[in-house]
Amino acid sequence: MSEKLRIHGGMRLEGEVAVSGGKNAALAVIPAALLADSPSIIENLPDINDVHVLMDIIRWLGADVEFRDNVMRIDPRPVDKFNPPYDLACKMRASYYLAPVLLGIFQRAQVPLPGGCFIGARPIDQTLKAMRTLGASVDTLGGVLEASVEELIGGDIFLDMPSVGATVNSMLTAVSASGTTCIHNAAKEPHIVDLANFLSSMGAWVKGAGTDVIRIRGGRHLHGANYTIIPDQIETGTLMIAAAATGGDVTITGAIPTHMEALSAKLLEMGVHVQTEDDWIRVRSNGVFRAVNVKTQGYPGYPTDLQQPLSALLTIANGTSIVTETIFENRFRFLDELRKMGANVRVIESSAIISGVDKLVGARVSATDLRAGAAMIIAALMADGVSEIGGVEYILRGYERIDEKLMQLGAKVERIRQEELTRA
Ligand code: UD1
Repeated sequence: MSEKLRIHGGMRLEGEVAVSGGKNAALAVIPAALLADSPSIIENLPDINDVHVLMDIIRWLGADVEFRDNVMRIDPRPVDKFNPPYDLACKMRASYYLAPVLLGIFQRAQVPLPGGCFIGARPIDQTLKAMRTLGASVDTLGGVLEASVEELIGGDIFLDMPSVGATVNSMLTAVSASGTTCIHNAAKEPHIVDLANFLSSMGAWVKGAGTDVIRIRGGRHLHGANYTIIPDQIETGTLMIAAAATGGDVTITGAIPTHMEALSAKLLEMGVHVQTEDDWIRVRSNGVFRAVNVKTQGYPGYPTDLQQPLSALLTIANGTSIVTETIFENRFRFLDELRKMGANVRVIESSAIISGVDKLVGARVSATDLRAGAAMIIAALMADGVSEIGGVEYILRGYERIDEKLMQLGAKVERIRQEELTRA
């Protein structure tokens, strides 16, 4: 059933809100749990569509899974299939993390190629190279990643760029390979470190996660583990930007402030007050912002997943901002929607030139992808009047109860079903 969010703009966000567990960490940790010979209990999992789809896939593969109150128990022992079906696997990009896992278990994997957000070409050549380096035969004929191997053997993997997906897949292949694997030019995102920590708690030998080079001594016996997922870096950032956008005063609890330094620095540059303690971040703003320039980069640079939400805020900053997207070429499509709300934006190659306007006005807009959805929410929160945001299914893929969390902070948000819309 199609749904929309109706947001009455102009409400100041105030109070405390808890951040959920990390989506991208969850999507790497859940497949890893299949490599164990006993059950794992994973806590602080976000209750979002992507996690439910992944749960359906691993259940289909045979795993015994329970998911309640953000805790998932995964018993991988009954897993007896290596070929998740197209209908399930194509619903999310991270389903291809199952390929190295199933290859490790069965020496064979057949996984339909990734779905997910349409934010650019999103090739997987680096994953294929990594699996081949460790001895697998891999091809992608017919849109299915097919891999087989007699024995995985550790080696040196040189990634052409620090791809998150390729780093995850290299790690998940390497833990099943005999000997040592070095992943060079690895991604350094917090969820890479989270995956490494989970693998270590299962008994794997993993060093260097969070740096350019990750070393793994593979072939160890892995057991189930109890593990708590890190807080979601991107949800934290989205809430920080939303608080600033409404001239609000919001404390985000259960966060990791060091993961947020690139955004905090940008917000400070814009004139927003950001205060941090061990596990909370308080964002206060008077609703007046300086324009800034931003360039997306891998961690610890400014994250591409927070480019769209910050761009929304920059539409009302004083002056002209230049936002340069270096990771995903299609991440400016949402600017067409922001223009409907009065934003003054043009795109030149990989940069958006945003000239601040006094106010946005409410409009009917669409979320073109997950983070574009977050940007539309932020724009709607700070606009004059009412906005209706379509494409809610994208937003729900990645944000747990985002409507409820915003309402708790004083926003006026309604979730409306298509049938109510057609009746109205
Ligand atoms: C992950 C995140 C996504 C985030 C992105 C960048 C998950 C589930 N998703 O996506 O939220 O926006 O990191 O931080 O964790 N590339 C290649 N060949 C490859 C792999 C990647 O050319 O084999 C390129 C991509 O086109 C892109 C860049 O490398 O330009 C980074 O992509 P990557 O880090 O792999 O992103 P994802 O893992 O898809």
